Amino acid sequence: MRIVRSIADLRVLLKTLRAKGKRIGFVPTMGYLHEGHGALVKQSAARCDATVVSIFVNPTQFGQGEDLSKYPRDLERDQGLCLDWGATVLFLPDASEIYPSGFQTFVEPGGLAEPLCGQYRPGHYRGVATVVAKLFNIVEPDLAFFGQKDFQQTLVVRRMVRDLNLPVDVVVVPTIREEDGLAMSSRNAYLSEEERGRALSISRGLLAAEVAFHAGERKVAHLLEIARAALTEPMKGVDQLQYLELVDAQTLDGHQGEVDRTVALCVAAYVGATRLIDNVILAPSHDEAVLNVTLSPGQA
Ligand code: PAJ
Repeated sequence: MRIVRSIADLRVLLKTLRAKGKRIGFVPTMGYLHEGHGALVKQSAARCDATVVSIFVNPTQFGQGEDLSKYPRDLERDQGLCLDWGATVLFLPDASEIYPSGFQTFVEPGGLAEPLCGQYRPGHYRGVATVVAKLFNIVEPDLAFFGQKDFQQTLVVRRMVRDLNLPVDVVVVPTIREEDGLAMSSRNAYLSEEERGRALSISRGLLAAEVAFHAGERKVAHLLEIARAALTEPMKGVDQLQYLELVDAQTLDGHQGEVDRTVALCVAAYVGATRLIDNVILAPSHDEAVLNVTLSPGQA
């Protein structure tokens, strides 16, 4: 596995690989890697000839008062994991490499960036879209891998790829969970043992709604109530439920009445000072699954 820090060196290396006809997969991350990232890297390694993993804690997607300066880091461990998972190249740019002085051009996502996390993290998806577009232009991957864990992010990125005609296929990988159900996240490292116990109410609520859905429950209000009951259970629930919403899985429009299409049940909640997000996709069985669909730039 090669470790590369400069854009120029990465371009030279990837040009050689491309000249040999190698198909390039790309997994952008902010590091402090876990098996969720591992699923992305392994899938890329299985489907591509070379896999580039980037680790870059992107300042433009953090708002004021968010956890940019204390975002967890462990580069040595991350390096070992990437090697084990089958990465070919680890790209570790400095902030000055990605945002040289005078940087002033951003990618502005539209309506998909507005609901859910967009309401509470203004500018977040503008930062995500900008850095992902830059990384796509630097790496020029054939396939890029993203996790369903950050469902709204996958939609914003796919929309950007289509709207800006970026020549990459985006692959979405299902959420990887701990054995007890907690969605893996670098931010789980912030949780005390007691908080981690209560963080479990997030997956418990979502999975309870999913079970009810598969047993035939279609009323949006009932599904939300099932999830809310677990999330807000006294002593066992979260400290603050920021949002719990059931939205159309393609448009993110709020869904009311009965579920008649593929929807996403999405949560953001604080446990102590830690903000966690999670979601499940609820697809009426006859509907086409929204995941693992590779969307080409040309596809409508
Ligand atoms: P980060 O939070 O490090 O996540 C990197 C990728 O791993 C994202 O696509 C995310 O959805 C995926 N991921 C995280 N936890 C996962 C889990 N439990 N199961 C499956 N996939 C999981 O997301 C970002 O970084 C940044 O916004 C980034 C795209 C790198 C842009 O800066």
